[in-house]
Amino acid sequence: MTIILAAGKGTRMKSRVPKVLHALCGRPLIQHVLDVVHAAGSLKTFVVLGHQSDRVREVLGPDIVAYEQKELLGTADAVRQGEPFFRDYNGDILILCGDTPLLRKETVRSIIRRHKRTGAVCTFLTASLEDSRGYGRVIRNDSGVAVAIREEKDATLEEKKIREINVGVYCVRKEALFSSLRKVPLNAKKKEYYLTDVVAILAQSGAKVETVGAQDALEGVGINSREDLAVAERVLRLRVLKKLMLSGVTIIDPNTTYIDDTVRVGPDTIIRPCTVIESNVTIGTQCVIGPFARIRPGTKIGNRVEIGNFAEVSRSVMGDQCFMKHFSFLGDARLGRGVNIGAGVVTANYDGKNKNRTRVGARAFVGSDSILVAPVEIGAGAMTGAGCVVTRGTKVPSGRVIVGVPGRIREKKG
Ligand code: UD1
Ligand code: MG
Repeated sequence: MTIILAAGKGTRMKSRVPKVLHALCGRPLIQHVLDVVHAAGSLKTFVVLGHQSDRVREVLGPDIVAYEQKELLGTADAVRQGEPFFRDYNGDILILCGDTPLLRKETVRSIIRRHKRTGAVCTFLTASLEDSRGYGRVIRNDSGVAVAIREEKDATLEEKKIREINVGVYCVRKEALFSSLRKVPLNAKKKEYYLTDVVAILAQSGAKVETVGAQDALEGVGINSREDLAVAERVLRLRVLKKLMLSGVTIIDPNTTYIDDTVRVGPDTIIRPCTVIESNVTIGTQCVIGPFARIRPGTKIGNRVEIGNFAEVSRSVMGDQCFMKHFSFLGDARLGRGVNIGAGVVTANYDGKNKNRTRVGARAFVGSDSILVAPVEIGAGAMTGAGCVVTRGTKVPSGRVIVGVPGRIREKKG
C-alpha cells in the first residue's frame, strides 16, 4: 500500500500548472513517481490531491485511488486524510512525495527490504547532498540512530550544516503511523502539520527507526522550483541515454541529444547531434537519425531508416528502409517500406479542423518539394514530380506518376 503526496500548490514553481503536472522527459512529474511505485511492486496506490485536483486526476490511471486534502495543512495532514482507506489494513504503508521523480525502483525496494529485515516501525530514505538547503535535515543521536527530521525553517545554525537530508520516502507500520500522526503538533512558523515529526514521535516512544542512504544522492532531488526541474531533466535524460548506449545505440553527442524515457531504439541505430525524440516513439535497428531531427510522439520507425537534418515526423509510421534525408515534415502519415521522401516534402495534414491521414505505398518516390494535402494516397511504386501539389482526396494508383500544381496523374505509357 502506497500513498503519494501531491496536494501541494508548488508555490515556488510560480505556475498556473500544478507542480506534479510539470513535464519531465515529456511526462508529468507524478507519472515518474507512479512508475517507480508500480515497478517496486506496490499493490495499491493512493494519491493525495488538493490544488487543482481535477487536472491532476486526468493523468492518473484507473487503478489509482485519489483522495482529497481539502485544506493544505501540511504533509502530515495529507496522510491523515487517507486514514479511512486503511481501516481494514494492517501492514506497512509506503509514503512518497509526488515531486521526487529521480527515485529509482531499486532504492524503493531496498527501503522495504531493510524495513522488513530489521523489524523497524519506520524506515526512511536519506541522501547526502552538497547543498542541503531547503530540505529536512536528519538528526542522529550519539549512537548514530536517526531521532528526528528538522525542517529548514526550524533548524539551528548547527543543524543547517547537516548534509544528510530527508528525501521524503517513508515505510511505516500502519498503526504506528496513524497514532503518531494524531500527536503531530501544528508547526507555528509554517502553520502546517509536518509528516516529518512522526520520526521524532516514534523515536521518543522507543520505536525502532531505520534509515537507508540513497546510493546516488541525485535521487533525492525534490522539484520545488524551475531550477530543480532543469536539474532533474538533465539527470533523467543522461540516464535514458546511458541505458540506450548500453543496449547498443550510438549517441554521437549526449549533450545535444534529447530522448524521452518512453522511447525505444533498436541496436546499431546511430543518433546524430541535436536530435529530439519525444514520448512513445519506437525506432528500429540500424537507422540513422539526425542531425537536427525531431521525432514526435506516437511515431514508429522501422529498421534501416534514414532521417536527416531538419526533418520532423509526428504520429507517423515509416516502414523499413525509408529515406527522408533533408528538411521535410510528415504528420499522420503511414509509409510502406523503401519509400523515398525528397527534400522539402510536406504533408499538409491539418485542415484547420481535423488532422488527416496520408498513405504512401512501398517503394514510392515522393519528389522534392511535393506537398501532400491530406487525406491522400500514393500507391506502391508511384512517383510525385518535384514541386507537385497532390490535392486533397487524390489517390495515385500504384506505379503511376503525378506532376504539376494541382497534381495531375499522367497517362500510362503504351
Ligand atoms: C518535504 C519534507 C522535507 C524533505 C522534502 C524532500 C515535510 C514537512 N518536509 O519538504 O523534510 O526534505 O520534502 O523533497 O514533509 N503536500 C501535500 N499536502 C500539503 C503539503 C504538501 O500533499 O498540505 C505534498 C506536495 O504536493 C509535495 C509533498 O507533499 O508533493 C512535499 O511537499 P513540499 O511542500 O514540496 O515539501 P518540502 O518543502 O519539499
Ligand atoms: Mg518538495
